[in-house]
Amino acid sequence: MAASAAARAEKLRALINYHNYCYHTLDEAEISDAEFDALVKELQQIEAAHPELVTADSPTLRVGATRLSAFKSVRHSAALLSLDNAFSPDAVRVWYERVARRFSADAKIKIVAEPKIDGLSIALRYEHGNLTLGATRGDGYEGEDVTANLRTLKSIPLRIPLTTPTQPPPFAKNANRGGASTPSPAKRGRAGVEVQIPETLIVRGEVYFPKDKFAELNRQLQANGQKTYANPRNTAAGSVRQLDPRLTAARPLRFFAYQIMEQQAGLVTRAQWDALEYLRALGFPVNPDSQLCDSLDDAIAYSERWFKTREQLNYEADGMVLKVNDFAMHEELGAVGKAPRWAIAFKQASQVGVTKLQRIEVNVGRTGVVTPFAVLEPLPIGGVVVSLATLHNADYISDNDIREGDTVRVKRAGEVIPQVLGPVLELRPEDSKPFKFPRRCPTCGEKLERREGEAGTYCVNSACPAQLVRQLEHFASRGAMDIAGLGEQMSALLVDKGFVGDVADIYALHMKRAQLLELEGFAEKRVDNLLNAIEASKSRALSRLIYALGIRHVGGTVSELLTEHFDSLEALAKASEDDLNGIRGLGPVIVDALREYFKQPRAQQLVKKLVKYDVQTKQHGRATRSDGKLAGKTFVITGTLPTMSREQMTALIKQHGGKVTDSVTKKTDFLVVGENAGSKLDKAKSLGVETLSEDELKTMV
Ligand code: IVH
Repeated sequence: MAASAAARAEKLRALINYHNYCYHTLDEAEISDAEFDALVKELQQIEAAHPELVTADSPTLRVGATRLSAFKSVRHSAALLSLDNAFSPDAVRVWYERVARRFSADAKIKIVAEPKIDGLSIALRYEHGNLTLGATRGDGYEGEDVTANLRTLKSIPLRIPLTTPTQPPPFAKNANRGGASTPSPAKRGRAGVEVQIPETLIVRGEVYFPKDKFAELNRQLQANGQKTYANPRNTAAGSVRQLDPRLTAARPLRFFAYQIMEQQAGLVTRAQWDALEYLRALGFPVNPDSQLCDSLDDAIAYSERWFKTREQLNYEADGMVLKVNDFAMHEELGAVGKAPRWAIAFKQASQVGVTKLQRIEVNVGRTGVVTPFAVLEPLPIGGVVVSLATLHNADYISDNDIREGDTVRVKRAGEVIPQVLGPVLELRPEDSKPFKFPRRCPTCGEKLERREGEAGTYCVNSACPAQLVRQLEHFASRGAMDIAGLGEQMSALLVDKGFVGDVADIYALHMKRAQLLELEGFAEKRVDNLLNAIEASKSRALSRLIYALGIRHVGGTVSELLTEHFDSLEALAKASEDDLNGIRGLGPVIVDALREYFKQPRAQQLVKKLVKYDVQTKQHGRATRSDGKLAGKTFVITGTLPTMSREQMTALIKQHGGKVTDSVTKKTDFLVVGENAGSKLDKAKSLGVETLSEDELKTMV
């Protein structure tokens, strides 16, 4: 028994590690989540029955070991060097000249260009293929032992080389996690090739927080009224430096390997590009945006092309690392101080210019938030003429003591809006006075307000024309009602001429066709195109309509979520606090925003008008759901279900027209109960809510 259990455990470990690799490193899952969970569960059961079979590389240990009281410091066996910077192609050329001088004129110097990931630098030590130590870089000589935390990152192999399961997994045929039905030979080749590894191998790389996941985390925190994080880099570093590894495990951190410690690198490869290939073959994630370049010019051209795409990448990077490819050349070049001569970080100089701030104005947004901006004497920064720059909010102006008439430093980075950094005090005019933030809305004249705990200043007059213009623009935008021809200018014009008093009024515009035609520049064709586009927008999906209203904190995802629980705008407008609180994924901030919005008589009026004008305010295209066996019923799930995950159960219920909420209330029809159910079961009993097992629910549908 024990022998077969051992064999099965080993097989399961290989399978789980392999599928982790497919999912977390290659981003191409081969099996479904449920199938994957089943493998982990089976291994956990074997390990529970035979603790002696638990190995150091067991993937079951990735959930996070027990809490530490402090990190041990570890001395790196060789210093982890850092890089010198070059802020222009010319500076890169100066670096290269110094490199080239060491070699004969006809020596071919290839360059590897690798994005410089902005995360936390770590070193992983593998002994006989097993991960034995993971440490932060620290000061380059001494770092912290964060092995237990790094083990929780699924893109870090616990054992190398990552072996391919010898037989295809039994469920490979009906796999659906990534769409592929059988593992592709190329992938197997990459993950499972025969590779030699030295007794000890130290791999350097960077742990980072993917940008999309970071945005998601902050959205959630904000919705729950919690403090948000400043940037992905610090959040990644903070997540790795948690004494409780379970906290690290809860974060979607990723890893890129980029270097084999020099003294060992020579044992297995002869050049940086080969080292990256080798790391990839061992099962490490290697940045796909790296490139082997034949010449320095190629490397500079490649970097500059990449700089332009940087904003769209899912990782933060603060430049391109250029590395001489050949390791023999590295030996020859050596290091100066803490930086090797064979590499340089090529960064874009942050683009800062100095100009005169003529005046400060404010802009009223669709939610009434008042944003100050600087009107500047135009100046070119990085090839673009900048004449406006943001000043964020009232505190930013006072904290940085920015005044009208000041000479200011202005920064433009990538695609983001230019911002005023601060004044050049030496050049401040003698008669200068601190800026007084307006007390009244520049458009409607109403008093401006500041809410407690918020940096923003608001115009709270919901009839403010400036807000209406922005609301209209948003209402008509692509992701909302998608009305071509109703952009910023048209919105302003319609508000200015008194054609609309709220967004619903656009649906009555056809009655004013004659008046529209009298406006300058409004030919028949233009007017009819606009009216047709408005008419066509009446049948947009409910989620778009909800989003189009521009309720604070209610973006596209939240709108989608809301349509899963309300099948009309009228129902949403009437929702009670309890109804909203019961929805999983809606934090208190969103609930408050929805309540506050629909509390306004103006909003209730708007809903009525939309209905009156025949705008589609009901959910459509969900026939299967409202006809479903569970239609109209509300479910809550609690405890661990025997075979299904909560997500799967939720999907099953929704598929049959039921609703799933988070907490048991009088309105709950059924509580689906699994093992170790807690207080929800007690509450259901006390309220007389019927309970169901997984099997019973399945029978119902
Ligand atoms: S090579 C000896 N490659 O940049 C060469 N570094 O100051 C050492 N970094 O702390 C670094 N991406 O954390 C290298 N592809 C990459 C990198 C990279 C990010 C970080 C690394 C280091 C810092 C350099």
